[in-house]
Amino acid sequence: MFILYMLFGYLLGSIPFALVIGKVFYHTDVRNYGSGNLGGTNAGRVLGKKAGIAVIVLDALKCVLAIYLVSLFDKQASIWCGLAVCIGHCYPVFAHFKGGKAAASMFGFLFAVSLFTVNNFLCFLIPFLCFMICLYFSKMVSLSSMVASLTSTLCLIFFKAETSVIIASLLMAVLIIYRHQGNIKKILNGTENKVKWL
Ligand code: G3P
Repeated sequence: MFILYMLFGYLLGSIPFALVIGKVFYHTDVRNYGSGNLGGTNAGRVLGKKAGIAVIVLDALKCVLAIYLVSLFDKQASIWCGLAVCIGHCYPVFAHFKGGKAAASMFGFLFAVSLFTVNNFLCFLIPFLCFMICLYFSKMVSLSSMVASLTSTLCLIFFKAETSVIIASLLMAVLIIYRHQGNIKKILNGTENKVKWL
């Protein structure tokens, strides 16, 4: 059963909303523009703020939905299912395994585990505030996403979440930072994209 839950998470995570919204509503393949990333930031950059927000919300919701549904049957498996959503988002079977960087899905994970597992909304709120503060000062979504991913693991440790939640969140942070390798290089040489509307 565990494998099926993971597969369900992976397949749900594999839905590339940036690609779907770009193609259906804007007749644009966002992979050919901007950073080429299938995420909310690049969708916002290429298609506009409205599309970017829609992609971010949908990418977060796919993780919330997966965790919620699986938690009805198996709480432990729902945590790993959340990680599977992030893996699917980064390596989607529906988009030649070239997806996004899992920042929005991570917030979906934090939102869901805060409500359904850890029962402490601060585990979502603190990383989210760190993201917003970092974004306000740096204007870089990539840096803010990486900071939030590390903050989330520290928060879960601080609030004594279950070991499996902490490990899943740590693996998620590793995945997110790994997926941001290109961004890290650009941050270091001062060429990273900055959001203009802040
Ligand atoms: O969520 C992805 C974001 O952190 C960076 O995206 O398109 O600027 O590489 P991008």
